[in-house]
Amino acid sequence: MSNQPYRTALVTGASSGIGAAIVRRLSEAGIEVHAVARDAKRLAQLAEETGCIAHALSVSDQAGIEALVKSVEIDVLINNAGQSRTGNITRTTVEDIDALVDVNLRAVLQLTRLVLPGMIARDRGHVVNISSIAGHYAFAGGNTVYHATKAGVHSLSQQLRCDLFGKHIRVTEVSPARVETEVFGRLIGDMAEAKKRFFDEYESLLPEDIANSVAFAVLAPQRMNVSFMEVLPTMQVVGGLNFAKKTAEAV
Ligand SMILES: NC(=O)c1ccc[n+]([C@@H]2O[C@H](COP(=O)([O-])OP(=O)(O)OC[C@H]3O[C@@H](n4cnc5c(N)ncnc54)[C@H](OP(=O)(O)O)[C@@H]3O)[C@@H](O)[C@H]2O)c1
Repeated sequence: MSNQPYRTALVTGASSGIGAAIVRRLSEAGIEVHAVARDAKRLAQLAEETGCIAHALSVSDQAGIEALVKSVEIDVLINNAGQSRTGNITRTTVEDIDALVDVNLRAVLQLTRLVLPGMIARDRGHVVNISSIAGHYAFAGGNTVYHATKAGVHSLSQQLRCDLFGKHIRVTEVSPARVETEVFGRLIGDMAEAKKRFFDEYESLLPEDIANSVAFAVLAPQRMNVSFMEVLPTMQVVGGLNFAKKTAEAV
């Protein structure tokens, strides 16, 4: 019999990729999982497969999120929902900035704010934030708003531990590099082209690699807080320095 104390989890961005893999992994571990995303059909399929409880909802729907948090006692909150965009800041629209800040950062803060009082009262809980190496490093081709929101997730994860000092509530940040999901297909609006361009010739991480990393942290003994995990494909490195020649054309 498992001696892990968590009975329930809420996973955002659960309809595909990393989120769906986390739902599968935590369900296998015997945790009742509440799965949040906008795509009701895919959530229903996941519910049939795993027994998770589907909540077709945008993380930006404040009233919906508040009603959900009121209705369930949440032991583990997995802030995973995320969006990205292409192009540098000069080609980013007003709507792009709002969407990325709303989903990647604002929703993480709002959900955490709503879920923590219950965890504090029970002196039991775990917040897992899926950030990105984009929040820790600058690299050419990245979208500045995406990088900024993920850096925000890193910062809030750090500060949250100070807010929770003296409580049995753990905060884990998992920072993945390239994972084979739909994120790039959504980005360029063409799943087949994204597979060709970003995955076919590379040995990327798979969603279950991140789900297993999350499970390692969640199922670890209560005395142990895995505070930060950076997970890269073996064949991917972060590094490089760009230096434009005097003769180079301006961006
Ligand atoms: N794949 C990578 O290489 C990589 C690397 C580093 C970090 N990450 C991060 O990992 C997380 C998961 O992404 P993924 O790679 O698994 O991509 P994905 O397959 O595109 O999944 C993104 C998930 O977020 C959900 N989502 C988007 N907007 C939402 C909203 N307003 N409300 C609720 N859910 C919303 C989507 O579901 P609906 O469309 O059904 O709402 C989907 O389930 C993201 O935070 C991403 O930034 C990914």
